[in-house]
Amino acid sequence: MKPFKLGILGSGKGSNMAAIADACLSGALPCQIAQVLSDVPDAGILKHASDRGLTGRFIPPGKFRTKLDEEAEAEFIRSLQDAGVDLIVLAGFMRILKGPFITAFPNKVINIHPSLLPSFPGLEAWNQALSYGVKVTGCTVHYVDQGIDSGPIIGQATVPVLDQDTAETLHARIQQAERQLYPDCIRAIATGRVEVTGRRITTKPA
Ligand code: GAR
Repeated sequence: MKPFKLGILGSGKGSNMAAIADACLSGALPCQIAQVLSDVPDAGILKHASDRGLTGRFIPPGKFRTKLDEEAEAEFIRSLQDAGVDLIVLAGFMRILKGPFITAFPNKVINIHPSLLPSFPGLEAWNQALSYGVKVTGCTVHYVDQGIDSGPIIGQATVPVLDQDTAETLHARIQQAERQLYPDCIRAIATGRVEVTGRRITTKPA
C-alpha cells in the first residue's frame, strides 16, 4: 500500500515532531515523514529530524518577521509538492501561512495550538490562559484556513490550570497533552476516519 506521507513544518524545539516521528517509527502511526522543513536554521526540530535519519531542510523565510516572503513561500510549496506529501503538519511553525500555501494544499494543512480554541488564539496561549485566570485550558488540532487559529477543529484535549502553575509548568503539561493528541488526530486522518462537513468534523471510531 502507498505510504501516507507527512510534511512537517516547525520553528522551535520540535517535541511534537519527535513524538510523531517516534510513533511512525514504532508503527503506532501508519505514516511516513517525507520532509521536515524549518524557517529557523538552528531549530531543534531539524536536529530531531537528523537524529532520526529524516530529511530536514532549512528554507530562508525572507524579509518579514511574521510571514514568509513570496519567494520563500513558493519554495516551501515546491519542496512539499516534490515530496508528494498527503498531509502538512504544522508543529510550532511560527510564521503565518495564508493565500497561496493554503490554496496549494486545500484541506491538507493541520496545526496544533496550545489552548482550547476559540479561546486564546495567537502567541503564547498558555500565558494568555494564566493571565485570564481560566481553570481549564488544553490544546487543539485544527485544519488551517485563511484566519489565525480559526479553522475547523479536529480534536482537543483539556489540561487543568493549577494554583501553583507558572508559564513554564503549564506549557510543559500542555505539551505533554499535545504529544498524545497530535499523533491521534493524524492517525484518524491517515486512516480515513475523519469527515468534514463545514465546521463540523466527526471522527469514526478505529
Ligand atoms: C507547541 O506547544 C505548539 O502548540 C505551539 O508551539 C509549540 C511548539 O513546540 N504552537 C503555537 O503556539 C502555534 N500558534 P515544539 O516545537 O516542541 O513542537
